[in-house]
Amino acid sequence: MKNDADTAVLDKPAVKPAIDSKGGATATKEMRIYVDGEFFAEADAKVSVFDHGLLYGDGIFEGIRFYNGRVFRLEEHLERLWDSARSIALEIPMSIKEMSEALLETIRQNDLRDGYIRLVVTRGVGNLGLNPAQCKKPSVIIIAAKIALYPESLYNSGLTVVTVASRRTNPASLNPAVKSLNYLNNVMARIEANLANADEALMLNDQGYVAECTADNVFVIKHGQIFTPPISAGALRGITRGVVFEIAAETGIKITETNITRHDVFVADECFLTGTAAELIPVIKADGRVIGTGKPGPITARMIQRFREITRETGTAIY
Ligand SMILES: Cc1ncc(COP(=O)(O)O)c(C=O)c1O
Repeated sequence: MKNDADTAVLDKPAVKPAIDSKGGATATKEMRIYVDGEFFAEADAKVSVFDHGLLYGDGIFEGIRFYNGRVFRLEEHLERLWDSARSIALEIPMSIKEMSEALLETIRQNDLRDGYIRLVVTRGVGNLGLNPAQCKKPSVIIIAAKIALYPESLYNSGLTVVTVASRRTNPASLNPAVKSLNYLNNVMARIEANLANADEALMLNDQGYVAECTADNVFVIKHGQIFTPPISAGALRGITRGVVFEIAAETGIKITETNITRHDVFVADECFLTGTAAELIPVIKADGRVIGTGKPGPITARMIQRFREITRETGTAIY
């Protein structure tokens, strides 16, 4: 089953003008994009063709959601961004506090209350060689937009996934814990899922254990307990994944980080994915095998409901 995700903003080549969240679905507003301390209209927001973010995928990013006038888990996202930066020896040219203020101001400039932030830090302008020593100043880009990664119907009916041949990068070469601009590994997996007419790609690591999907963490439920791959299996330490751990603790459901095989996914009672863009979404079929009853299960439904409450009730105030 193919979904409408291809028509969603995240999958489009360029972001659309922001839709005014206060003015309803039809009122459109010129987008304001932050680039290195200034705000630009969409057509004028540019970086150099010599930026190593473009030439080599040398840079890092975060995807952050805001709900109901509050940014969800802002500190955690910024901490992960700074960890990614440290790991690739990139010095972000501002403090966490300044970044936080720039991000909030970008949302204000776009007059949004609900949406998605794409925060990018590139290595900056260098020459055509790959040596980052040539790049004197990293660039910071902040885009605030509206997104719906999947149509609401898929949250009720569930996704189909296929295991793809592209393996998650080995931590010894490029650690998946770094949220880098080098997503070609995931893009290749996504292409395989598209070709297989599936909604998402299940990516294994070098050992053949489940790592994650192309932009989501994976969870399976068996006999009332939740299992998810450990970070060491090649899963990103997802912020949404962390929220699932919190909800599980709060509701008394046991959750365990352990190596998961495709077999574990096939025989699971329930399966769901988590990610900032996708939020919590059920999976009902993997490699043609129906998971559980073939409908989103009760624990997944409870998790989604509680997640939606938490996102609407907590976060850093924007206005
Ligand atoms: C590869 C990958 N895995 C998992 C996730 C989910 O992480 P989070 O919940 O922090 O968005 C993302 C998205 O950020 C991702 O890019």
